[in-house]
Amino acid sequence: MKKQIRKYAFLLLIVFGNGYAQTKKHMDTKKPIEERISLLIKEMTLEEKVGQMNQYNGFWDVTGPAPKGGSAELKYEHLRKGWVGSMLTVRGVKEVRAVQKIAVEETRLRIPLIIGFDVIHGYKTLSPIPLAEAASWDLEAIKKSAAIAADEASASGINWTFAPNVDITNDARWGRVMEGAGEDPYLGSKIGYARIKGFQGETMADLAKVNTIAACTKHFAAYGYVEAGLEYNSVDMSNSKLYNSVLPPFEATVQAGVRTFMNSFNTLNGIPATGNAFLQRDILKGKWKFDGFVVSDYASIREMIAHGYAKDEADATAKAVIAGSDMDMESYLYVAKLVTLVKEGKVKEALIDDAVRRILRVKFELGLFDDPYRYCDEKREKEVVGSKANNDGVLDMAKKSIVLLKNEKNLLPLKKSGQKIALIGALANDKNSPLGSWRIAADDNTAVSVLEAMQQYKDNQLTFEKGADLLSQKATFLTETIFNTTDKSGFEAAKTAAKNADVVVMVLGEYGFQSGEARSRTDLNLPGIQQELLEEIYKVNPNIVLVLNNGRPLTIPWAAQNIPAIVEGWQLGTQAGNAIAQVLYGDYNPSGKLPISFPRNVGQVPIYYNKYSTGRPIDSDKNVFWSHYMDVEKTPQFPFGFGLSYTKFDYKNLKINKTTFAKREKIEVSVDVTNSGNYDGKEVVQLYIHDEFASIVRPIKELKGFELVNLKKGETKTVHFTLTERELGFYDNNGNYLVEPGVFNIMVGWNSNEGLTSKFELK
Ligand code: NOJ
Repeated sequence: MKKQIRKYAFLLLIVFGNGYAQTKKHMDTKKPIEERISLLIKEMTLEEKVGQMNQYNGFWDVTGPAPKGGSAELKYEHLRKGWVGSMLTVRGVKEVRAVQKIAVEETRLRIPLIIGFDVIHGYKTLSPIPLAEAASWDLEAIKKSAAIAADEASASGINWTFAPNVDITNDARWGRVMEGAGEDPYLGSKIGYARIKGFQGETMADLAKVNTIAACTKHFAAYGYVEAGLEYNSVDMSNSKLYNSVLPPFEATVQAGVRTFMNSFNTLNGIPATGNAFLQRDILKGKWKFDGFVVSDYASIREMIAHGYAKDEADATAKAVIAGSDMDMESYLYVAKLVTLVKEGKVKEALIDDAVRRILRVKFELGLFDDPYRYCDEKREKEVVGSKANNDGVLDMAKKSIVLLKNEKNLLPLKKSGQKIALIGALANDKNSPLGSWRIAADDNTAVSVLEAMQQYKDNQLTFEKGADLLSQKATFLTETIFNTTDKSGFEAAKTAAKNADVVVMVLGEYGFQSGEARSRTDLNLPGIQQELLEEIYKVNPNIVLVLNNGRPLTIPWAAQNIPAIVEGWQLGTQAGNAIAQVLYGDYNPSGKLPISFPRNVGQVPIYYNKYSTGRPIDSDKNVFWSHYMDVEKTPQFPFGFGLSYTKFDYKNLKINKTTFAKREKIEVSVDVTNSGNYDGKEVVQLYIHDEFASIVRPIKELKGFELVNLKKGETKTVHFTLTERELGFYDNNGNYLVEPGVFNIMVGWNSNEGLTSKFELK
């Protein structure tokens, strides 16, 4: 029998060549994944192992002839040698199939590629930008939105998204504020968790389904705290801040089972995140036991040379791999330097084996070994991408993301008939900007504009005038966005339209490429001449509904003071216009709440609700020596958690089940919420705590619970919260979790600044 098997194996060797016979062993689907990985690793040369750790960006028309010359030819050759483990930005079944074919048909070991893509808020059918989605506080909706993105991406050949971004930030100058969930680690953790489940499915087994993709939590870590909001800048912060504000959302995604992490461009306390063993080895892979893999950010391994942390390419390579960066995105360094470093004894092969095991694990879990073309089904691609169901899904998410910031004179909702409405602002007729800047797969100008959507309400008389352009020239993802229009020739026509109207709707804000990566700004006012346009229109008709379209908090002190109705309409994706029109006309009652504070002016930045108290928080002595600004109030324009509704909610009967608790006892908090207005509505009930005194100072408020409640007109519901040690403790400067006795103040309310208060003591 044994002889026969040997003979069979030998025959296989002759027929298929050496490589094929060897690789068969790990293809036994009955064996556990870990064993299959071990079998495969045993067969791999050092070059092939390092190849798995190498990721290239899409580079040539993969469906055409082989490229000649330059980096494209190099990448192509490496791919054929089995020196590439992953590619990014290749998209569409045709393209993905072409690169996968090279990997699984031309290389010795036939290891499939994992195909990454920035599916940040949708693939082709776009959801709102993540910051906007966070304003919904609706975890089920956010999960569904990620699932739609996964559905479309996977139908297009992609099996790995570089999302979610869980960077907490309180700096609106930073362009990437649009990409995270805002300023709060508790809300950010819940949303990060929901997004992982949306992309990957509820259980680990779901990852093997054809409509789920691996997620990637990024950017590890502290990228949201780049100094002065300047992109790619350095970060210096206390350990206490790191453990309590930055890391919790990352940990939440590990608990949700995220399969990959991306590190970050920034330094943290002098060490680039990419070369940071404390972050990647001690915390992520050590303390949190993360068993997926870490990809570098784009060229961030090489950038350690510019940071002044690595002396040359070899040094950068060694530092990155030793620190726990498993895959090199586009630095071209692992593939060039790692084999030699191992041979010279400067990097242990065990580290390479560990990285490769992690990468292969995810490929096995996705089912790529069993069918490398499983995401390459043209029929499914046609059916799923841009489907009616996906458009309905993103519309639902878009409506839930809108925040009503002001509504005086009952200007909203708009009456549906007999009204003359002037719609003003270039953004009202912009089908591109609502797509935001992360929309690589979406076609330009595919969003529903506000103008198109408002035209559907035919019983009113609608006049559109742009007033002024936003930009003086066309902007793209790759070019600097210039917005220095000075042309006011459209003002007069806009003023005439406003004069003749009952209500003016003005859509103002940022162009789609004015936020996002590399889009830092030092001025948070309405860009260009929009403020001037707003004030000119106000002079002829003050009945203005201002709809903001923006990827970051803006400073709108004049509008907040003078304009009667303000709607935060963000960049809401493909269905943006429909969502906004439905809210303006009252077909949808807004319930969003800000996930980030809106400053009064840029000088207040960073501004956030969960700050520490100073030693002089109030002017008790009625003299100048207290913590304040001379020229502006120190409170934000709109606080974290703020958002109105067309109806009214009353809070009563805040109760805590006892006044004193022993450690580990559960604290039950309840409150009655009544819809006392004229519309059915939804309210986000928020619970905040304040630990009065601790061994390390605690924020003056911390969100520790929230509930979304639907209330019919006149209805009352009792909302319950449970607090445990998980909510009451904090991390010290060494990362130890402490729960200390003392008095805790509680606030249950409708934003971070207003609510009912009570307290209890923990013994
Ligand atoms: C750089 C960005 O920082 C990161 O978020 C993104 O995923 C990669 N580029 C790949 O496009």
